[in-house]
Amino acid sequence: MQQKGQKDNSTYYQKLRLRRSALAHIAKPVVMETHGGLGKLYQACYASVLQGVVFEKDPKRTGILAKQRPTWAVYEGDCVAAIAAGVGAHLEINLLDVDPYGEPWSTIEAFLSSDRPRAKQLHIVVNDGQKQKVQLTGGWNSASLKGLIDKYGNGLSQHYLEACQILMHEKAALAGYAVSRWHGYYCGHGQQMTHYWAMLEQG
Ligand SMILES: C[S@@+](CC[C@H](N)C(=O)[O-])C[C@H]1O[C@@H](n2cnc3c(N)ncnc32)[C@H](O)[C@@H]1O
Repeated sequence: MQQKGQKDNSTYYQKLRLRRSALAHIAKPVVMETHGGLGKLYQACYASVLQGVVFEKDPKRTGILAKQRPTWAVYEGDCVAAIAAGVGAHLEINLLDVDPYGEPWSTIEAFLSSDRPRAKQLHIVVNDGQKQKVQLTGGWNSASLKGLIDKYGNGLSQHYLEACQILMHEKAALAGYAVSRWHGYYCGHGQQMTHYWAMLEQG
């Protein structure tokens, strides 16, 4: 049983499968990992990808990531502020990997609203940990979910995946993309984690 304060790692293999499915659609992946952690996903999925950008706010972890990937740009700090400011714009990213412990939307919005080169086709893979909070609080205090509260009211957590799909369509439009493919599911302890993969294409 999961103890209080313990992170849910039961979804790790599902995370890998989702990323490998996305990679199978990309001839030459150029990756941005927004929450690098200890580099487990990199080891399992991106070790052969030469061009990439990774962010991590924990200094020790950033050191591990820098040693792990000599050809990538490795940044220590808050990924949301850095991405919003255009960090990583030296590369045309075609796979955005968002793996926070909590909500991913501020990061996705920072990427899609910032000034940077845009790949014709962009894949976004997400490990979204926000559903439990929405279940507990209703989501009223989450800026990213504001518009969805009007639609779903107190039922937002039951419709969280559908709400994510709506949000992805809205955020994609910020960068001139349309969502051409969507795959998502709940997983992990109590089905509290939400994984999704969106393929975005420019019109
Ligand atoms: C779920 S772990 C990521 C695991 C990682 N994908 C891996 O393969 O090892 C989340 C990581 O995000 C980092 N983090 C949390 N908020 C952040 C932020 N705003 N900017 C950058 N890193 C952040 C945490 O320090 C933690 O290492």
